[in-house]
Amino acid sequence: MPTPKISPSMLSSDFAQLGAEAARICSCGADALHMDVMDGHFVPNITLGAPIIKSLRHHTGAFLDCHMMVSDPEKWVDDFAEAGANLYCFHLEATRDAAALIQQIKATGMKAGVAIKPKTPVDAVLPYAALADMVLVMTVEPGFGGQKFMPECLPKVRVLRERYPDLDIQVDGGLALDTVDAATEAGANIIVAGTAVFKADDPKHVIETLRDSVKK
Ligand code: DX5
Ligand code: ZN
Repeated sequence: MPTPKISPSMLSSDFAQLGAEAARICSCGADALHMDVMDGHFVPNITLGAPIIKSLRHHTGAFLDCHMMVSDPEKWVDDFAEAGANLYCFHLEATRDAAALIQQIKATGMKAGVAIKPKTPVDAVLPYAALADMVLVMTVEPGFGGQKFMPECLPKVRVLRERYPDLDIQVDGGLALDTVDAATEAGANIIVAGTAVFKADDPKHVIETLRDSVKK
């Protein structure tokens, strides 16, 4: 199993205090910051774009894990690279040529991730798993934080882990202390958690417990 990583979703933070929230959550042991980019087209919600990443970059050295819930993900690669993003994870459903997009992303120096929505079969992403740095298996419909975890997505994680023992496999959506074990048991090693971390009285404890689940 590759290294466990916890990537709290900044979607659940106070956007008016983004720099301070990033510092706070990193001091609680976060390995990366998950930045949910939504364009109001690929998903029915709008969040943030490259200018916010650029501003945040001045306040943190953290690994910025950008989850691109956007149509035409090819369009924003250069802007995000210049803004200081570390990983650009696009949705397979949003592109016609995933292999070319992975190359385009890697050419900028960013890491490349490929995400799939709950209804997208794992077979669709398998051809790209060896080219990408990470595969994200969504465990809710993308668009909003605070939704219910969908355990029916986990067989996809299991298939990916069986075929690619060293692959970084991220899960995102509804991950919390009571759902994480099912995800890590299926083979996920990178856990995104928004509500569970930011609404906790003790976010450090939550981050540690999520990480311990991957190690089990
Ligand atoms: C949903 C986003 C998630 C979300 C996770 O579209 O991709 O990253 O913010 O939030 P929780 O952990 O609250 O489900
Ligand atoms: Zn996300």
